[in-house]
Amino acid sequence: MDTALLSKTAAAMVAPGKGILAADESAGTCEKRFQSVNVECTEDNRRAYRGLLFSTPGVNRHISGVILHDETLRQKDNAGVAFPAYLDNLGVIPGIKVDKGVIAIPLTVGGEAGGEKVTEGLDGLDKRLAEYFKLGARFAKWRAVITIGENMPSHTCIYANAHALARYAAACQAASIVPMIEPEVLLDGGHTIEHCEEVTEATLRATFAALAAYNVASEHTILKASMVVSGNACKRQADVAEVAERTLRVLKRTVPASLPGVVFLSGGQSDLSATTHLDAMNKMGAPWPLTFSYSRALQNSALKAWSGKAANVGAAQTAFAHRAEMNGLAAQGKWNSKLEKSAA
Ligand code: 13P
Repeated sequence: MDTALLSKTAAAMVAPGKGILAADESAGTCEKRFQSVNVECTEDNRRAYRGLLFSTPGVNRHISGVILHDETLRQKDNAGVAFPAYLDNLGVIPGIKVDKGVIAIPLTVGGEAGGEKVTEGLDGLDKRLAEYFKLGARFAKWRAVITIGENMPSHTCIYANAHALARYAAACQAASIVPMIEPEVLLDGGHTIEHCEEVTEATLRATFAALAAYNVASEHTILKASMVVSGNACKRQADVAEVAERTLRVLKRTVPASLPGVVFLSGGQSDLSATTHLDAMNKMGAPWPLTFSYSRALQNSALKAWSGKAANVGAAQTAFAHRAEMNGLAAQGKWNSKLEKSAA
């Protein structure tokens, strides 16, 4: 385990004014996103689209790292340069998604099997991590999914996921790869923000307890958190200040001060909400750097502008650069709405 490298990687991931591009969508998720702009989801179209994002002029100004899918880690750009080497050359850290997706937990309190999920991917993980390190990956993401609903999440769901996160995080550190642990509390549903806060707190408490039980070094761990928000079908939608206050309160209660930083997922929030919430939290101040690790909230406008046409690459890169810049400012509490060109 190279602890100096782990420290260096973690600090660079959350450098001031920078955040992470999540570009690790599975082929299935990519298919849905591409369908929305009528683009066929072929391996080469995925390569072209992701290459477009990575080669955006000035990408390294606000992007510190990119989470890649296994497929992308092995692909090359149009000039024949492997994507990890291309990114590394720009000072952008290549990361890798290492979980293998979710399966239904049978017979949890949520009722029917399929009501709740646990993430797979621990078998053979140490061998995959060793290969990923050789291919250039310096951090790795694992996403756990926590659903809020009637009698959900169950204790079983929270603990099964916390345990898996801890085992994966320990394996990453042993391989000199920084774990980016992502226990995502989904925003889908009619639940209140108060309920989301309770569930997020319970999830983070269990996750950090499991990490401690596995001797995972918090100094070399990045948390990818979901914000505390109202369920998307809840009548009362909490305002920006309330989201920021509740999210910060939960993080301060549960996250060790020794963590190098917290990054957020966008989770289906609009581009503007994801930016505004991040900015509000940074304006309030936190014990750790707080930045972004968005997929949709960084890519929505770029994907739409591209729509699969080579002639639109410049417009798509401009859209992506703009969102990266807005979120880079939000990561420092320096964003304001007048800086927005247009956003969803
Ligand atoms: P979203 O920002 O679209 O939620 O994606 C982030 C991510 O990496 C989910 O695992």
